Amino acid sequence: MLGFRHYSNTPVLFLPMQIVEQIVEMHDWSEAERRQSRRIALIPTMGFLHEGHLCLVRDGKARCDRVVVSIFVNPRQFGPKEDFTTYPRDLARDVRLLEKEGVDILFHPSVEAIYPARAQTHIEVENLSLPLCGAARPGHFRGVATVVAKLFNIVRPHMAVFGEKDYQQLQVIRRMVRDLNMEVEIAGHPIVREADGLALSSRNAYLTPQERGAAVCLSRSLCKADRWFRRGETSGRALLCLVRSELEKEPLAKIEYVKLCHVETLEDIEKVDDAALLALAVQFSKARLIDNRVLRR
Ligand code: PAJ
Repeated sequence: MLGFRHYSNTPVLFLPMQIVEQIVEMHDWSEAERRQSRRIALIPTMGFLHEGHLCLVRDGKARCDRVVVSIFVNPRQFGPKEDFTTYPRDLARDVRLLEKEGVDILFHPSVEAIYPARAQTHIEVENLSLPLCGAARPGHFRGVATVVAKLFNIVRPHMAVFGEKDYQQLQVIRRMVRDLNMEVEIAGHPIVREADGLALSSRNAYLTPQERGAAVCLSRSLCKADRWFRRGETSGRALLCLVRSELEKEPLAKIEYVKLCHVETLEDIEKVDDAALLALAVQFSKARLIDNRVLRR
């Protein structure tokens, strides 16, 4: 069925978004688009979409002829005690949001389709998966890399957009693509934030109103460290101390890690030369939140 969408006063012909659940159907659609020399962007997500996800979608739309968004809550990237079963889901709302953005395909496969019973192959991006979130979430990045590789093979996009909020994830994917000669261009999108600085996240839904107020300490501490850096502070110890003491002002926030590391290798560094990644993870009662800032001259 065809329809019209109005951009300013000009009606534009559009095809409504298709929801595809079958791998073969997804693959066939992509092959047909590729044969017509259309560039395809993929935005992988786990759904419960927010403005951060939608900014990635707009980025993909601006760079390519077709946009595919995947929604798949990937069981393999959750630890046994993590929130896989309670992860927020609202497919009907996600569909409405994606239709408004003019997305071409929502790819929404079942767990059984992605992980047939006999599957035994994984992708391990070794060193990059170990520090930061990898230390507290063993196996997490193996789950991420494996599902993203599968999505690339199924959707066959020319490019994919990932958020810099999950900075380590972005580095893991970039490494995987280089190491395995995958023909997918990877674009990073800056962190999208609420007006008070809190990075948008599907997991913000877990915060109580009191915790929501307190959660601004993540971005506030990073901004403060950036100000100190701009005034000449380059010592890792001093910057980490500053961030910790800002976070510790909030009794509801339990620090998991605060790290200063190399922007590509993610190895700890003691002093900022040209650039460094300041990254942190903080636990509130139910919500584990992450944030980061690249300090750059
Ligand atoms: P999800 O948490 O749904 O995030 C999907 C994409 O949106 C990721 O690239 C993430 O970095 C980006 N994103 C989330 N919040 C953002 C924000 N505030 N600003 C900018 N980008 C933001 O990340 C995953 O899903 C999964 O691990 C996935 C890659 C889909 C693999 O399962």
